[in-house]
Amino acid sequence: MDCTTNVPAGFVRRKDFGSDFIFGSATSAFQIEGALGEDGRGQSIWDTFAAKKNLFSPYGEDAVNHYKKYEEDVKIMKDIGFDAYRFSISWCRILPTGKKESRNQKGIDFYKRLLMNLKTHGMEPFVTLLHFDPPQALEEEYDGFLNRKIVDDFCDYANICFKEFGDQVKYWITVNEPATFATLGYVYGTHAPGLSSLNANYSDSSSSKKQLYSSSTNYATSVAPYLPSDDDNDDHDQDEEAASDDDDEASIFPPNRFSVHPPKKNDMMNMSSGVKGNSVASPVSQEVLPATVPSKKISVKDPSEYPYLVAHHQILAHAKVVKLYRDNYQSRQKGKIGIVLNAHQLIPLNKRKRNQKAAQRATDFSLGWFLDPIVNGDYPENMHKYVTKGYLPEFGADKYMVRGSFDFIGLNYYTARYVSRQASDGGNYITDQRAKFHVKRKGVYIGEEQGAAGWIYGYPRGIMDLLVYIKEKYNNPLIYVAENGIDDPDDDSSTHWKSFYDQRRIVYLHDHLSFVGQAKQQGVNVKGYFVWSLLDNFEWDSGFKSRFGITYVDYDNGSKRCPKLSASWLKSLLAK
Ligand code: NOJ
Repeated sequence: MDCTTNVPAGFVRRKDFGSDFIFGSATSAFQIEGALGEDGRGQSIWDTFAAKKNLFSPYGEDAVNHYKKYEEDVKIMKDIGFDAYRFSISWCRILPTGKKESRNQKGIDFYKRLLMNLKTHGMEPFVTLLHFDPPQALEEEYDGFLNRKIVDDFCDYANICFKEFGDQVKYWITVNEPATFATLGYVYGTHAPGLSSLNANYSDSSSSKKQLYSSSTNYATSVAPYLPSDDDNDDHDQDEEAASDDDDEASIFPPNRFSVHPPKKNDMMNMSSGVKGNSVASPVSQEVLPATVPSKKISVKDPSEYPYLVAHHQILAHAKVVKLYRDNYQSRQKGKIGIVLNAHQLIPLNKRKRNQKAAQRATDFSLGWFLDPIVNGDYPENMHKYVTKGYLPEFGADKYMVRGSFDFIGLNYYTARYVSRQASDGGNYITDQRAKFHVKRKGVYIGEEQGAAGWIYGYPRGIMDLLVYIKEKYNNPLIYVAENGIDDPDDDSSTHWKSFYDQRRIVYLHDHLSFVGQAKQQGVNVKGYFVWSLLDNFEWDSGFKSRFGITYVDYDNGSKRCPKLSASWLKSLLAK
């Protein structure tokens, strides 16, 4: 395998982004470290979940083994020419039981070694405190994030991190993708801890309480609102209700993935039209797996409450840790602190008002779910309006702690979806990667399918549209693109050259980066870009089957690393 091929940088150059723009790559602890049982580490909820679902197969839990190979990994980043490295600390390596009393010096020492190594190589650390992997012990003690008690334990853990690592870390991230954690972990059960609010038995089975969701790839809608049946009375478009969304080819909005010209009149993408078809939603695309039946009784009685509670406690945990940092460390350590949110670009299926409204609801129920509270101190109006009464927690006095609790926002962007209002099924919205035409019944995809796991459809301009949306709606915050990338299939070692020659990834990264540059030109305060991921690694419920790395990992041969073509391309780009 040739690891030294040079690839021209194409049209994106480092210098176009300005001298203060940071380029980096990202990983997370559970996805790369291995050494799960070593040096006193406790178990995380992913240890339990992955074992139960046999997700480490066939390579085993040490597959990437960054715990032992971190020096080599830092060298790879250095060689590519990155400025920064985003990684996460494993809570249960620092505190095996999750509690401050269980402090594990060997775990602390590992991250000190890593930070020292990064410093030696002039690499800026961006450190995430929680990337989907809270300690299993807290799950057993009080149901983890379903319980508000986790807020204080998270603060104790963060306090140790600030104390021990704060002199070396100038960028802290409290929580990664809280929407993914709340939906995949507590609605679909495809992520740890594997609880599900689907098929919940409601005490009240009225239609307005029906939990609606669309199938497979669309967990963006997993906490979609419960619309009353007369929802869109104010639309004056009841006639449209009779017509199905696929019967009007002319009205299908043709999104030009590459267009950067000013949108035409009535163009749905026009941000000033008030329709911002963007949203969160998280990765992963497989069919909904049967959720793990918890081995113990969960204290929260109604599973429909799970995602809302878990989201709320993540927001409080985030905000309290920000306060802790600001009160005790920030003036001395001079760092910044923020949160990483994920978003799909959500685009109305067509120009109908009800679909425009649906796209805005989808956005509010995903990105707005977290961004509204930390910017304004409360959930979006649409959530107050549509979440079944009593399910959406209230901030009360916490509002003052939550509002303004960030120095920067991290944005993870991968793909886009169409959104339409669903007239059947109680009137919810659905998201789809396809628009279907009546005449030929052909699906028109929102972009080319790019990823092996099947949920990424390349829609590069979506990253610009989202950045501009955040700028306009949320007072132009400082933003870092904290993740962007695509996956390859798991080619075995006899065919790994396929995943090594990753031209598709180069095109994907090139196009997205150029739209980040254009967002900057439009005044978005975006100051950095991290490619996901430095290494092929453990991709959650896809196990080792999907490879997001710009570095190939040969799991069969001692996790040997070999930079892919995209790494060489990035190297040329960063040299320019
Ligand atoms: C989101 C997550 O933060 C990361 O852990 C995951 O591997 C990537 N996106 C790709 O799915």
